[in-house]
Amino acid sequence: MLNVSAPALLLGFDDESAPVTRLAEAGGWPVATVQRHRFPDGELRLRLPEPLPPRVVVYRSLHRPNEKLVELLLVARHARQAGVGHLTLVAPYLGYMRQDMAFQPGEVVSQRIVGAWLADLFDAVITVDPHLHRVATLAEAVPVAQPVVLSGAPALADWIARQRPGALLLGPDEESAQWVAQAARRHGNDSAVCRKVRHGDRSVRIELPDRAWAGRQVVILDDVASTGHTVAQAARLLREAGAVSVDVAVTHALFAGDALDVLHAAGVGAVWSTDCITHPSNVVFMAAALAAALQGVLDAPALPMMPPA
Ligand code: R5P
Repeated sequence: MLNVSAPALLLGFDDESAPVTRLAEAGGWPVATVQRHRFPDGELRLRLPEPLPPRVVVYRSLHRPNEKLVELLLVARHARQAGVGHLTLVAPYLGYMRQDMAFQPGEVVSQRIVGAWLADLFDAVITVDPHLHRVATLAEAVPVAQPVVLSGAPALADWIARQRPGALLLGPDEESAQWVAQAARRHGNDSAVCRKVRHGDRSVRIELPDRAWAGRQVVILDDVASTGHTVAQAARLLREAGAVSVDVAVTHALFAGDALDVLHAAGVGAVWSTDCITHPSNVVFMAAALAAALQGVLDAPALPMMPPA
């Protein structure tokens, strides 16, 4: 029988010590770091504290995910062997969610495979704005007993309201409409959404909605910026249409390669993000929201998953 009154231990990694510490402080949980040694051939040796309590929470944001997935496999299997009864993954950014269908014959649908694999390792997964556009719920992508989805949009909306009161919130594509609508409702902002056609990783075509852009302050809001080309295209069009300022707010600051240069060259002013991915643009911390969600998970431990009938 799982002892739900025993304190949970939060496990983090040294490259994410700041958000893990914030989460531990927000929820009052003890925290420990997974010790990592890299062998000359690139393999990892991991070391966890001993003994482990009955409930363990692993914090790992899954950008640049390949090696982290191996870390999660090793940590979760070790924890189970060490007697941990309830394992939670807090992955503010959940990687491999964008490939949710085979766009070409033979393409691997990584969302389903990685999702099922994580569900096999963990009892609960807490994440923020996962890229779920062709499935409705996190449970469909990650069939874990306790799936929890938070959004960065409300906290980003509050930040934007303080920095650019009255700005128009613009989503760079149809998929961003959900976050833009949520953020705009919160502070009564005007909002709009672009149309986007993607031709390749760094090639997108954006169409601005028909609005009077001249003289407007615009903040582009999206879940993810990766190469930055989606946001940059929108920013360039806004500047050409006479917007006086174009700033960018994203939940997940992937910003691969020269993405920030691409944004600034397109006329973007400020770039703001949540700390779901550690990045110099982080201005909004998710610790309080994550702590509340984690407390909810720990207060209602998972029932064993029933096999399908
Ligand atoms: C796509 O649907 C996402 O919401 C982002 O718009 C996209 O991932 C951004 O990618 P990039 O920055 O490479 O254009």
